Amino acid sequence: MAVTYSLLLLSLLALANAQLEAVNGRIKITTGTTSGCGDTVNFITNQLSDAYEEYKEFLDIEFVPWGRTVQNANGTQTCQFGPNDCFANRLHRCVLDQLKGNQQAQMDYMRCEFSTPYPSYLQRSYECAAAAGLNLVTIDICVATPVGDHLDAAAQAAAAEPMATIDFVPSIVFNDQIDVDLHTAARSRLKSMICFALADVPETGVTNCQI
Ligand SMILES: *[C@@H]1O[C@H](CO)[C@@H](O)[C@H](O)[C@H]1NC(C)=O
Repeated sequence: MAVTYSLLLLSLLALANAQLEAVNGRIKITTGTTSGCGDTVNFITNQLSDAYEEYKEFLDIEFVPWGRTVQNANGTQTCQFGPNDCFANRLHRCVLDQLKGNQQAQMDYMRCEFSTPYPSYLQRSYECAAAAGLNLVTIDICVATPVGDHLDAAAQAAAAEPMATIDFVPSIVFNDQIDVDLHTAARSRLKSMICFALADVPETGVTNCQI
């Protein structure tokens, strides 16, 4: 009875949602963030963090700290949650760039920024960059570099399509394929989605997925 019920639920879920699939046994997750955003805090702390701990060996994690930032013609930026949001997003881009190639350090850093006391957004503090062991002079130079540098241009370009299609922060994109249903599902059951996708690939050894 219980088994039949689970199977029925599973089929319904499969019908209701596009199915997440692994690519060569891996799943890439690109999260578009903005520092002052409560939904981004929720996603990173309640979804991504857990899923990462459980399945990190199969995941390629990427953050795009840009959100709804507008690059003004006069060279300034306007951000959804004001000047602190712009400052902190820029700091995030600088730090993530310094930590590139080290997924664990990037994840730890973003967990730090999106947890109380929200050091960069609320306090304009470099505390999380320091916790990551980075040279704060290097970070400060990056943050102070006039807008329009290559990190900004790259983030702006990476955020354009997800924001136009998904129109929500955080935007969640799997394997570089924008899919609004998968984005929406990921906000409440990311770990389960990843589990089922990996369980479809026997080599991963992943089993016992929970809905
Ligand atoms: C730059 O442009 C933005 C948007 O048009 C405007 O709000 C801001 O005041 C301008 N800043 C300066 C320094 O001109």
